[in-house]
Amino acid sequence: MKFGIVGTGVIGAGWATRALSRGWDVVATDPAPGAEARLRTAVERSWPSVRKIGLYPGADPARIEFVATPQDVGERADFVQESAPEVLELKQTVLRAVDETAGPDVIVASSTSGLLPTRLQEGMRHPERFVVGHPFNPVYLLPLCEVLGGEATAPDVVERAIAVYDDLDMYPLLVRNEVDGFLGDRLQEALWREILHLVADGVATTGELDDSIVYGPGLRWAAMGTNLTYHLAGGEAGMRHMLKQFGPALEWPWTKLVAPPLTDELIDRMVEGTQEQAAGRSIAELERLRDDYLISVMYSLRESRLGAGSIIARREGRTVDRAAPTRWTPGMEIETPLPLYQCRVAPDWVDYNDHMTESAYLLAFGWASDAFFRYIGIDEDYRAAKHSFYTVESHLVYTKEVSTGEPLVFTTQLLGHDHKRLHFFHSMYHGDSGDLLCTNEQVLVHVDMEAGRSANTLDGPKSVLDEIWKVHGLMDRPPKAVMNITGR
Ligand SMILES: NC(=O)c1ccc[n+]([C@@H]2O[C@H](COP(=O)([O-])OP(=O)(O)OC[C@H]3O[C@@H](n4cnc5c(N)ncnc54)[C@H](O)[C@@H]3O)[C@@H](O)[C@H]2O)c1
Repeated sequence: MKFGIVGTGVIGAGWATRALSRGWDVVATDPAPGAEARLRTAVERSWPSVRKIGLYPGADPARIEFVATPQDVGERADFVQESAPEVLELKQTVLRAVDETAGPDVIVASSTSGLLPTRLQEGMRHPERFVVGHPFNPVYLLPLCEVLGGEATAPDVVERAIAVYDDLDMYPLLVRNEVDGFLGDRLQEALWREILHLVADGVATTGELDDSIVYGPGLRWAAMGTNLTYHLAGGEAGMRHMLKQFGPALEWPWTKLVAPPLTDELIDRMVEGTQEQAAGRSIAELERLRDDYLISVMYSLRESRLGAGSIIARREGRTVDRAAPTRWTPGMEIETPLPLYQCRVAPDWVDYNDHMTESAYLLAFGWASDAFFRYIGIDEDYRAAKHSFYTVESHLVYTKEVSTGEPLVFTTQLLGHDHKRLHFFHSMYHGDSGDLLCTNEQVLVHVDMEAGRSANTLDGPKSVLDEIWKVHGLMDRPPKAVMNITGR
């Protein structure tokens, strides 16, 4: 896929990083002097962040072709995303220029924050291929992309655009009605107007207003938004009770909503307030901090699959082959050792040195063990029947450090087994360099969880272990293996 970008400021550069991290080519244009160098610098600066959430095969920040005009982009790209300044006439001119040269099947999208698609598509030769795809900054991390067509947009174009954004690991949200400001920005703007009033009236500083969000509502919003959160505020009776209890307050003139005039004094207060909050930190420093916490928040939502957590989990599945590990069936070749598991170093696995922390190695090996269990037929059903293996001894040898986002591959060698005991050896390698990073030798005992004591392994997994042993029993013992418990 060649992703076209017209306008390479904050948002265009964000699209470039997202598309490049997906392993696509980018073709871009921007008339400002020095725009190409600025784009390349912006992509380099944001690259560590996308590395943390996972790069696709072929992802390379250098795969940018910078061209002279929007027509050149239209001619070369498979999909065009316009991110020029938010001025209707300027955008219309740019969109018509792309439209001149792009094949009729090429979708032309605009990043506009609120201009209506029906206006933007006026004068295009092929207005039916136009959509709005409104992202949020930083585009390379935040998944939301509001998608809406204008009166002349073909319905299948909206669907195809949604598929492209989905492929880019975004959360395309269809805006079903063409309304000014779309959805997210209307909500943000309501809050923003109120902030300006409170600062203008001298009620609170920008810092105090931010505190009123980041220590409270902001933490709730990332996973549940406003409505589901308020549903919980109503107790057992939910939203109905919430509306009954707090509904009367809606009649009180708490909020003003119509924005105050942007006087010099108000502008100064906003600027001075935010400068104080920045406390000497540069925009680049604050961007790094923002990216790191956004990644941490998204990863923390991964297990619950709430909000952006589901997108992070999906990207992980797409960038690292985490397809459910194979279950061995008779006739399948048994590799020596077994390569059953791969993953990527998660942001919450690293310490302050950005190196994977000791306990995280054990966590990762736990997933490798899980893959081995599935291979021999121990899955949720087996455990639901109250049978499982419990680890009784574990021996880790740390060989080399590894950092956030780096790919890990694991192999497993069976060192022995009997009716109740299982002895295996995992090796963790760097997915790109092939360097050995760590090994983990484990002895486990099969248990009947209901009875609370050791018990014989059930016939299914036992027979697979016997088959594995036929070939792994012939392998050399790994030099780092130290336990001599079962078999050898
Ligand atoms: N900044 C945000 O948070 C945000 C979020 C979502 C959407 N948007 C939308 O994205 C668009 C771009 O916003 P931005 O924040 O990146 O602005 P920006 O000012 O950072 O970038 C705009 C870029 O467009 C270039 N440009 C000017 N004239 C051009 C032309 N004729 N053809 C091509 N490029 C031209 C400029 O040189 C500049 O590099 C706007 O429509 C904006 O509403 C912005």
